[in-house]
Amino acid sequence: MTGARFHGVRLLLGVCGSIAAYKSVYLVRRLTEQGATVHVAMTGAATRFVTPLTFETVSGNPVMTDLFSGPPNRHIELAEAVDAALVAPATANTLARHAAGIADDALGTLLLALRGPLLVAPAMDGGMWDHPATRANVDTLQARGVAFVGPASGPLASGLEGVGRVAEVPEILDALEAMLADVRVAASMAGEHVLVTAGATREHLDPVRFLSNPSTGRMGFAVAAEAARRGARVTLVAGPSELPTPPGCTRLDVTSAADMADAVRAHVGGASMLVMCAAVSDFRPAVRHPHKVKKDAGEGHVALERTEDILKSLAGRTPEGLVKVGFAAETEDLLAHARRKLVEKDLDLIVANDVTQPGAGFRVATNRATLIGRDGSEQALDILPKARLAALILDRAVALRQSVRPAR
Ligand code: C5P
Repeated sequence: MTGARFHGVRLLLGVCGSIAAYKSVYLVRRLTEQGATVHVAMTGAATRFVTPLTFETVSGNPVMTDLFSGPPNRHIELAEAVDAALVAPATANTLARHAAGIADDALGTLLLALRGPLLVAPAMDGGMWDHPATRANVDTLQARGVAFVGPASGPLASGLEGVGRVAEVPEILDALEAMLADVRVAASMAGEHVLVTAGATREHLDPVRFLSNPSTGRMGFAVAAEAARRGARVTLVAGPSELPTPPGCTRLDVTSAADMADAVRAHVGGASMLVMCAAVSDFRPAVRHPHKVKKDAGEGHVALERTEDILKSLAGRTPEGLVKVGFAAETEDLLAHARRKLVEKDLDLIVANDVTQPGAGFRVATNRATLIGRDGSEQALDILPKARLAALILDRAVALRQSVRPAR
């Protein structure tokens, strides 16, 4: 059974009172064939359509139909033990009860005590599905993270045509698999603290003029968003950027390279991954005028001085096991420059991108990069959306973390 689609998955299946309840018998068959352990809970109305004995036989487990038979607390223990729950068919009544948090039967109580994710497959007459009360309940449940599959459109048991048919078994199985995969992704970087820098810095000559570059912060924001989606704690140190803060990230806005260096040094101590996407200015005006420099004082030269290299300044100050990822945006001799920076900046991985290529670099939604590892490995990637490139960079960073510290 290893390798089966639902191998080792413990599921709660809620069955409600609908003619579609018979389809759930096939659903249990497919789930158990594919490796799942299924515990069925039925509403009172469901037992009028299919007997508990049928589900007990196909699932191989006792069926819960009321709160007062079986050992006390069984519903709480079961709700905490399962990996996920599925309600199929889900009636308008059960959706309403769960949206309101009502726990007046076995299924209602199990759903309220559930720790894992929930997928529902509604089945009802089209008018009931369209009713504003049901619409509001669906919105409430979706906002709480409940996943829906169906209902489909077609002939209904009422004799009418419309939206309300329960989704077919293969569709429910696909939706369940997708939900379980999302849960795994959301936990895959739990416990990591990712410190990301993004965007350009501004090095002011006076209050209204500065030296900068066209970086918008998109690449760094994409890394931060993906790390947060995978369950990491994320601190995003952002140069001036119009982009919204990705959900779940703590954002620190900075202006100059010196501000960015301070923010990185203040937070790197607690980080397990550092991803330096920012296009940090290498130079700044040697003198910053407190007031706007007048045109007539203009002519002449702006003396520049080097900014501090943030990565180099971290040498000897980083926590053990920290994985460091840098970027090399180049316009010539891409790989040679990137390899040199990998060594000079003591990085575990460098993302080399030729910013002269169409669809790569600043201001565009895509990027084309080669990932170069400390071990000399080179992974040349196609042109990719920045979100996809962010995911691949994090895959590598996670693998590197696991090589320095065993996976949890
Ligand atoms: O040397 P270069 O600026 O090309 O190196 C790019 C990499 O170094 C990026 O990861 C960037 O965030 C980082 N960097 C830095 N401090 C600077 C300039 C760049 O840490 N002053």
